[in-house]
Amino acid sequence: MEITQRLLEWYDVTARRFPWRSDDVDPYMVLVSETMLQQTQASRVAALLPPFMEAFPHVHALAKASNADIIRHWKGLGYNSRALRLRDAARAIVEHHGGIIPQSPELLRALPGVGPYTSAAIACFAFDVWTVVLDVNVRRVYSRWSQRQLTTVDVLPDKELTTYATALIPRDVPSKWHHAVMDLGATICTARDPKCSACPLSECCASAGTLQPASVARRAEPSFRGEPRRLWRGRVVDHLRSVGAGGVSEAALAVTILGDVHSADERQWLSELLAALETDGLVSRKGRRVSLAD
Ligand code: ADE
Repeated sequence: MEITQRLLEWYDVTARRFPWRSDDVDPYMVLVSETMLQQTQASRVAALLPPFMEAFPHVHALAKASNADIIRHWKGLGYNSRALRLRDAARAIVEHHGGIIPQSPELLRALPGVGPYTSAAIACFAFDVWTVVLDVNVRRVYSRWSQRQLTTVDVLPDKELTTYATALIPRDVPSKWHHAVMDLGATICTARDPKCSACPLSECCASAGTLQPASVARRAEPSFRGEPRRLWRGRVVDHLRSVGAGGVSEAALAVTILGDVHSADERQWLSELLAALETDGLVSRKGRRVSLAD
């Protein structure tokens, strides 16, 4: 598949190096780093992970840590309750899994503080298990690739993303794949300022070069004849207020609202506007007559 090949080739050349990305990575290090990465930037985690690993070099050491110990060593990472949950996960691993980090996403998910993202990420990055890993960056990248998104904040629902990802993730290199998607999301397909002209995937991306900044797009309302739709809604309701309970015919309303000269498309647009007003409980239509809702 074209996307797969292009992304992996790009990653071969540009991969960011992190302590948790070596081929023979210690699964325990992945548990710790993925917990840290939940809310802390990768560059910061890269700096703070080594001293933490020195203080707690294996899961048994972490399991024995007191609250004070672990919170002290969590300095600079924020969200201290994460550290306590990580320690609790280490205790559960010692107690229920003989100190061996489980490989299956289901068993990982049962550990304290390990949610759907972290369980998938540990299985994938520590054991190269084929699974769909979705975090905020991966969701964004897949959404943009698969369907044309209007603004930089638009993403598809997880169900659609999972279906899309399932067809895309290579069976043989799931860990490398997800690292590559994360790198693209962090460096090129960024949240607010996507660099489509520098993207190796632009030719196979449904949203390349078209994403509008979210703030502008949020303000940009649907409009008609250059005026926001909400003004037209207001005009219709105002007019119906003035004509009394009997209402008006749709044809007369069209002349009042659109003027004597209007096209069939414009008439259709007004009809859809009336349907929306009716759905919202503002207007009622009986036959061809339109009135304010009872
Ligand atoms: N964010 C979450 N997990 C990550 C990873 N494994 N590499 C880079 N950024 C990440």
